[in-house]
Amino acid sequence: MFDYSVHRKVLRLIRRYALAEKDTDLNFCQRLNANAYFIHQFFMSFYGHLSDADAAFNNLLETIVKAHVNRNAALRKRDEAKIADIPWFLSNDLMGMSLYVDRFAGDLKGLHTRLDYFTDLGINVLHLMPLFQSPPGESDGGYAVSDFKKIDPRFGTMDDLIRVQQGMLERDMYLMVDIVYNHTSDQQEWALRAKAGEKGYQDYFFMYDDRTIPDEYEKTMKEIFPEAAPGNFTYVQECDKWVMTVFHHYQWDLNYRNPRVFTAMLEIVFFYANLGVDILRIDAPAFIWKEVGTTSSNLPQTHKLLQLLKLCVRAATPGMALLGEAIQRPRQIMEYFGDGLFLGHECDFLYKAPQMALQWDALATRDTRVMLAQQEVLLKKPYGTSWITYTRCHDDIGLGYDDEAIAAAGYDPPSHRKFIRDFYSGNVFNSPSRGGLFSVNPKTGDARITGTLASLCGLERALEENNAEETEMSIRKIIMMQAFSFFVGGLPVLFYGDEIGYMNDNEYLQIPGKSYDNRWMHRPMISWERNAKKDEEGTIEARIYKATKELIEIRKKMAAFADYSNLAWSMAHNIHVAVFHRHTEGQEVVCAFNFSPEPAFLTWYAFREYGAAPELLYDHITGQTYRPGPDEAYFVLEPYRFHVMEKMKRQE
Ligand code: GLC
Repeated sequence: MFDYSVHRKVLRLIRRYALAEKDTDLNFCQRLNANAYFIHQFFMSFYGHLSDADAAFNNLLETIVKAHVNRNAALRKRDEAKIADIPWFLSNDLMGMSLYVDRFAGDLKGLHTRLDYFTDLGINVLHLMPLFQSPPGESDGGYAVSDFKKIDPRFGTMDDLIRVQQGMLERDMYLMVDIVYNHTSDQQEWALRAKAGEKGYQDYFFMYDDRTIPDEYEKTMKEIFPEAAPGNFTYVQECDKWVMTVFHHYQWDLNYRNPRVFTAMLEIVFFYANLGVDILRIDAPAFIWKEVGTTSSNLPQTHKLLQLLKLCVRAATPGMALLGEAIQRPRQIMEYFGDGLFLGHECDFLYKAPQMALQWDALATRDTRVMLAQQEVLLKKPYGTSWITYTRCHDDIGLGYDDEAIAAAGYDPPSHRKFIRDFYSGNVFNSPSRGGLFSVNPKTGDARITGTLASLCGLERALEENNAEETEMSIRKIIMMQAFSFFVGGLPVLFYGDEIGYMNDNEYLQIPGKSYDNRWMHRPMISWERNAKKDEEGTIEARIYKATKELIEIRKKMAAFADYSNLAWSMAHNIHVAVFHRHTEGQEVVCAFNFSPEPAFLTWYAFREYGAAPELLYDHITGQTYRPGPDEAYFVLEPYRFHVMEKMKRQE
C-alpha cells in the first residue's frame, strides 16, 4: 500500500544514503518500499499516541537503512541467492546441532579445530548457545546477557567467532545464534543505569515504586521457574524499586511499550544479521508483551511486535530466518506463524515442541494414539515456514500437548501426565529411565522432565545393571527417537553429545549458581577421548554415532524429506506403530516406527493409504526390498525398530 508521507520519508533516506545505483541497493529499496506501509502502521499502533512518535518512527526507518548500508557485499549476495527461490531453509540438505561452545570445545578457537567433526557427521547448521557476555556465576546458561555485542571472554573474541564462521562458510555451513529478546541481565548497561536512578533507562524495564502494580500483574501471571524463581518481580535495593523478572531475579524484562526498546533491540538483531547469522533464535518470544489482568504471554500485541520485526528483517537482512522459541500449547505455537494477511509472515521457524514431547509420550506408553490425535493442529503450518524438530535440547521436556489429545486416546489427562513424569523420573516400577523432574510446581502439581537422550532411553540403567538385552533395547530407542525427529518434517537439530550417547552428569550439583537447576544434568562436558570411541568398532559410541550419521545421509539424499507441507499421517492401524508419509515429485516414502518392546504387526494397507500403491518397497534402513502383500496381510516390525520405505516400480 502507498502512503505519501511514509514513502516520502523512505525516499529521502534512499537519497541521503545514495541507494539508487547498485542492484543490491535497488533490491533493498524495493523491499523497504513494499514493507514501509505496514512497518509504519504496526509501529504507530504501538507508539502513535506518544508525543515523539514521529521522531521514533524516523529513527526506526534509519535503523533499517543503516542495517542494509552496513551489510557487506558477500552477505548481500548470499541474501539474493537465499530468497531467489523457495525458502532456502526448507531443504532436506540441512541438519543441525545445538551446543555450548565451552562444554563442547573449550572455546571458539577449540570449536574451529572441531569443524571437521560436523562435516563427518553431516551437520551443516550450528546453533551456538549464548555467546555474548553474561555475568560469571549465575547467568541461566548465558540467557542473561550483560553485553549484547561483546563475545564473552570465556569463549574468546569477535575475531574468533569470525574465524569459526569463515571455516563454516568454507564447509557450506549455516550459523544460528540466540537473541535474548525478552530480558537483559541486571548487569547490562541499561539495567545498571536504571539502578543508578536514570529515569530514561528505568523506562526500558517494568519498574515500580511499590508493589501495587506488581501485585496486580501477579494475580494472573504464571511462574516459569516456580522452584528456583517464584514470583515475577524482584526488589532492587539500589534504586528502591520493584522490577519485573519473569525468569530469574537477575533477568530483567524489557519494556516494549517504549519505542526506544524496540529500536535498540532491532539494532542488535541487525548487528547479529550482519555478523552473518543465518537463523536467529528469538528467545522466549511469548513473553515480550505484558498486560495487567492477563497471563502476559501469547498476547495479540506479541504477535504484532514479531510481525513488525519480521517486516524490518525482511527489508534489510532478508537471508536471515527467524526462529521463535515459543514453547507453548500446540494452538498457541501455531499462532507464531502469523495469521490473516500475515500468515507465514511472523516466525519462519518454530520449535515443534509438542511433537518432541509426544515422541516421549509414545515411548513411555508404547501407544502412539495421543501423538496421532494431536497432528490435526500441527499440520496447519503454512507453506514456506518450517519446524525445528528435535528429540531434546538444552531445556527440559515439558508435556506441552493438549488434554483433548490425551482424552481422544482414551486416557485421563492428569493421571496420564503423571504417569509420563513418573516414568521418566524413574518412579514407575521397573522404569528403565533415569531422568529428573524440573520446575516442580507444588501449587499445580506440574513438572517437566530432564535427562539426556541416552539416560531417558534406559542406557544408563542398562549399563549399570550390566544388562545386555536392555542395553540393546535402549540403543534401539535412542536411534528410533532420533530417526523420528530427522524424518518427520522440518530442520532437525541434534543436541550435542546425543550422537555419542552421553548420559546424565551430576557434577552441576557441586557448582554454585547451577546446583538448583537440574537442566545442567543433561548438558554434557564433551570428553574428546570418549568421542574418539566413535571410531572404535564394537563400542556403544560407535554404534550410536554410525547410526545417527546414516540417518543423516538418508535424509540428505531424499528430497521427500524437504519441508514442503508434504506430511500425512496414517490412521492407527496398530496403536504401537506410528506411520507417516512424505512425498515430493517422483518420490514417495512411508516411515513406520514401532514404539513397543514386542514385534508389531502393520497391515500392508498402511503403505498404500496415500498416493500410489507401491509395487515394491525399498527400505533405506535395512537395504531390503519388500513386495507388499494384500491389504489384510501384515508387515512385522521388530521391537523399537523403524523403516523408511520408498515406493518403487518393479524392475522389468
Ligand atoms: C529460553 C531458554 C532457556 C532460558 C529461558 C530464559 O526458554 O531456552 O534456557 O532459561 O529462555 O532466557
